[in-house]
Amino acid sequence: MRHLELIKALPKAELHVHIEGTFEPELMFAIAQRNAIEIPYTSVEEVRQAYNFHNLQSFLDIYYAGANVLIHEQDFYDLAMAYFEKCAEDHVVHTEMFFDPQTHTDRGIAFDVVIQGLTRACRDAEQKWGITSHLIMCFLRHLSEEAAFETLEQALAYKDQIIAVGLDSSEMGHPPSKFERVFAKARDEGFLVVAHAGEEGPAEYVWEALDLLKVNRVDHGVRSEEDPQLLQRLIQEKMPLTVCPLSNLKLCVVDDMQQHNIRRLLQQGVHVTVNSDDPSYFGGYMNDNFIAIADALDLTEQELKQLAINSFEASFISDQTKQKWIQKIQNWV
Ligand code: HPA
Ligand code: ZN
Repeated sequence: MRHLELIKALPKAELHVHIEGTFEPELMFAIAQRNAIEIPYTSVEEVRQAYNFHNLQSFLDIYYAGANVLIHEQDFYDLAMAYFEKCAEDHVVHTEMFFDPQTHTDRGIAFDVVIQGLTRACRDAEQKWGITSHLIMCFLRHLSEEAAFETLEQALAYKDQIIAVGLDSSEMGHPPSKFERVFAKARDEGFLVVAHAGEEGPAEYVWEALDLLKVNRVDHGVRSEEDPQLLQRLIQEKMPLTVCPLSNLKLCVVDDMQQHNIRRLLQQGVHVTVNSDDPSYFGGYMNDNFIAIADALDLTEQELKQLAINSFEASFISDQTKQKWIQKIQNWV
């Protein structure tokens, strides 16, 4: 394995991870049992066998079903703490995690239960491992604009606990323009904004995320490469793309890792970062993603360091903290 020790040792920030996508089957079984909820699997192996996705939708169907066992504040706490433990192992020192409130509120779980469980875990993770974190609330784009407005309304009471809003779920047929007004309101209320665009959807959706939603980062964005003018815009604006290599492989956005464009994008000056997306479903956490591209694309030490530096530059932490981590990486021998 190329540069394994460097990958392990580098401090990293994770900017694209869905907390519901970190749900390991073992924990899913344990929580299902204590909440007396039936799940359609009899063993952990059976769950993993169900994970052979051929696109985003076939993944989302299983991902939403898994989230059904989360009921109590403690469930959300346990879910997030299990993820933080992986962060500690991978030397992820800062994370900005997505959560999907509508996946839970639509099942009758109170917004408050979700957010209290997650924020308690964030506090404890900082105490226990020194890991800092922010929460990003995503709207489910397959649902209506009206439902997104209702969700935003609920979030206003928790403004100090949510740094940004995002947009996820089924991309095709649900362009960013559908949520232009919701995002305008979110920005007015002081939230930063990000959106999934250009994962399965066309470059046009990335333009919309930039021009209509006025995003601070683009999540995925790998299909931007199909539009040279768009690439120039991303480079000029130093717009971060939160790229998720193992996700792209598992959901067949790329046929094999050797064809992944993250190195080409980096070499052209696009501000790309490495992330795990839904690590329990896609076969690996942060370091697994780094290892996968380092091996397949023959990345140099300098490129790996640049990817780690980019993760802090693109994060929503203070400039002072950013500089602390970036200097650590730059002074690496
Ligand atoms: N894309 C869109 N929606 C999602 C994803 C993703 O990669 N993961 C969880 N929800
Ligand atoms: Zn995602």
